[in-house]
Amino acid sequence: MALFDELSARLVPHGQEHVLAFWPRLSESQREELARQVSVLDMSRLSEMRTAIDLLARPVARELAPAPVVELADRAFPYRLGAEAERARERGEQALRDGAIACLLVAGGQGTRLGFPGPKGCFPLLPLSQMTLFEVFARKLLRVGRQFGRVPPLYVMVSRQNEGQTREFFEAHRFWGLDPSRVRFFAQGELPSLDGSGRLVLESQGSLFMGPDGHGGVLSALARHGCLDEMARDGIATISYFQVDNAQVPVADSAFIGLHLTRQADVSLKVVRKEDPSERVGIFCADHGVPQIVEYSEFSETQSKQRNPDGKLAYWAGSIAVHALSVAFLRGLVARGIDLPLHAAHKKVAVLNAQGQLEEPAAPNVYRFERFVFDTLPLALRVVALEAPREEQFLPLKNADGPFGPDGVRESMQTYWRKALAHAGLPASADAPPVIEVDPALCENAREIIEFLRKPGNRPMNLAGPLHLR
Ligand code: UTP
Repeated sequence: MALFDELSARLVPHGQEHVLAFWPRLSESQREELARQVSVLDMSRLSEMRTAIDLLARPVARELAPAPVVELADRAFPYRLGAEAERARERGEQALRDGAIACLLVAGGQGTRLGFPGPKGCFPLLPLSQMTLFEVFARKLLRVGRQFGRVPPLYVMVSRQNEGQTREFFEAHRFWGLDPSRVRFFAQGELPSLDGSGRLVLESQGSLFMGPDGHGGVLSALARHGCLDEMARDGIATISYFQVDNAQVPVADSAFIGLHLTRQADVSLKVVRKEDPSERVGIFCADHGVPQIVEYSEFSETQSKQRNPDGKLAYWAGSIAVHALSVAFLRGLVARGIDLPLHAAHKKVAVLNAQGQLEEPAAPNVYRFERFVFDTLPLALRVVALEAPREEQFLPLKNADGPFGPDGVRESMQTYWRKALAHAGLPASADAPPVIEVDPALCENAREIIEFLRKPGNRPMNLAGPLHLR
């Protein structure tokens, strides 16, 4: 069968033949690319996409209630994690010594808001060394290796768009000392977009408008690339999941992992305390008794502002997208053919009109689809949430400017390290040292820096200039 007929046979039964409208005008290579896109499309997903669009218009009725969280034991700087997590730390450390933990870094996003030309992990974030996010995570892993005698394997989820650049970046920097055979890149899937009539959207005469399938694409991508079986074979029971934009997050927090293991959880998560009712963060709570993350937009104003007798917000547990995931649980989902649900978002996207020209819309015109990793929560039998200190563990680089832009993130890091110096008895002030950088291979949080600085010989002599602790 000619290629055109083959593609038609896939598209026509679903009313999507317009995808081939410009076929006669396409070059050989453009035809090949369009054929590749059509052949990877899972047409059975179209109805799932339409359901996601319906849900956007008519959200399900929620019956929300706060869900339990292991809260901080000490809210004063430099903070102390909940006692149950601290008691479980030894269990997490043993799992790290046993090689039963893998680290999973999701880095397949497009980073549109940051606007950096290249994968977000290549962004030079640290103020003195210009260390990139990828190196930050590599150095944190090396430190875990030094502490526990083994460096956990690192799984890096990339997208079709950034896989080449990401691999080249790791190679050019010789994996910053990690063993390349223990770093595994795997590409997430892609999803097409639909217009208001449920028709696939084209971005050019020879290509569909596609995008990565969200961080929740990680479940099917891990399965498709054989990573879950590989983990099971290698004795890895738990995945420590984190995202590329949060340089402050520990890559393998032994207390968090220990808590996850002692509670025999399928999925665990870290949360931070939301103080401002209008903060746009997904909240860990229960809906009809089932623990999950509910988007801020799904709370009524009254619910967002609801307070407990102690004056604190009732729905305070903001998710920071840090998880511990049981490998057996994920394999169980895959074995039962369960994937995470699709979510639709209505966006303004320049798309091709019937004449084959790109048209800028005046209003949202296209539905894009994504899966979210936190949708593993309602599928889990056992879930545990741990509160983490916000300034210690949550400083995501999201935007080009503002508090979550590069300068804002660096400023928050400075404030945090400066407090640690003062706490360690050094005469640090608002402008001295002018810049502080802490090597992620040395210390991960203020408690560790304070301990380090209190040791004889580690006290910096000169606080007038930039301070690089390494
Ligand atoms: P964000 O939700 O911040 O999205 O991703 P993004 O694509 O990086 O940035 P914007 O929205 O275009 O500005 C949070 C984390 O999830 C990963 C990102 O790489 C980041 O670590 N992610 C997101 C994926 O791995 N794949 C995706 O499809 C989406």
